[in-house]
Amino acid sequence: MSHLGHYPKTRLRRLRHAPNLRDLVRETALNATDFVLPLFIRHGSGIKNPIPSMPGQFQISIDRLDDEIREIIQLGIKNVILFGIPEHKDALGQDSYSDNGIIQTAIPVIKKIAPELVVISDICFCEYTDHGHCGVIIRHDDQYVLDNDKTLELLAKQAVSHARAGADIIAPSGMIDGMVHVIRNALDQAGFNNKPILSYSVKYSSSMYGPFRQAAEGAPKFGDRSTHMMDIANSSEAIRECSLDIAEGADMLMVKPAHTYLDIITRVKQAYPELPLGAYHTSGEFAMIKAAAEKGWINEKSAVLEVLTSIRRAGADFIITYFAKDAAAWLDEV
Ligand code: PBG
Ligand code: ZN
Repeated sequence: MSHLGHYPKTRLRRLRHAPNLRDLVRETALNATDFVLPLFIRHGSGIKNPIPSMPGQFQISIDRLDDEIREIIQLGIKNVILFGIPEHKDALGQDSYSDNGIIQTAIPVIKKIAPELVVISDICFCEYTDHGHCGVIIRHDDQYVLDNDKTLELLAKQAVSHARAGADIIAPSGMIDGMVHVIRNALDQAGFNNKPILSYSVKYSSSMYGPFRQAAEGAPKFGDRSTHMMDIANSSEAIRECSLDIAEGADMLMVKPAHTYLDIITRVKQAYPELPLGAYHTSGEFAMIKAAAEKGWINEKSAVLEVLTSIRRAGADFIITYFAKDAAAWLDEV
């Protein structure tokens, strides 16, 4: 074997000479069916607000969803993830678990336009609380802290309420300990034992969420999220997070961000190959490509397809990406 394994008998360029040949031996394929498009649903009517830090992305009111959903379907996108911007924010984020909340109102409208579209519901509190934190804030030893177990009760209510409205997949994003456990129990008790949970199992306390926080109007008014999200320097801890989520009943795992955490995607996929793994190509990662492309410093189409392919090659089965529409259209061109 080894005496055959090198030049001049072995020439790796043999399989690179022609496009069809390269297609034949390509190891990773990108498909529109692997994409999940995030949508920002805003209260009010007649609204399609461009998000300054996310060119091409909008806050949309429910009455303007029709065109958007039809376009998405036309492009071959099969999945969306919803983020709500409610009219009223309060200390507990009550809109998120009210049956008349923004997401609970939007889902039936979307389902009416496109019953087959998979609707993933992001479950957290930061878009719904007046303080912008991901749960219940209490005062403890002269400090404001996010109370884990009080938050769990409300997360369960939010998940059941979104399931009742018709969400197909429940996706808790707050990195609250025990979130998958309580949500699984609550869904089962409410008769939703068939609703899968996509856990944001490995979500880093990252600088890559800045544009999203503008888009979803959910930046924390004080402090940060480092007491619940993972330290960016850690890798083994990601395996602990995933193993707990799996034990608690997660059906799918996620790593977030994606482009800056390809090593984590690979590690999680190798540790748990049997679970579908999503990766969230975040708003900051989106904005960096957009900004460089706008300046003419990078070719947007090839950069985007390269990054998305790399995320899949690293081990992600599907990608949540603001580029879903563009990438689907580009993949359709050839
Ligand atoms: C929380 C949530 C956030 C994102 C997805 N879900 C914001 C945060 O954790 O601060 C970020 C997504 C992105 O940056 O694109 N509801
Ligand atoms: Zn949050």
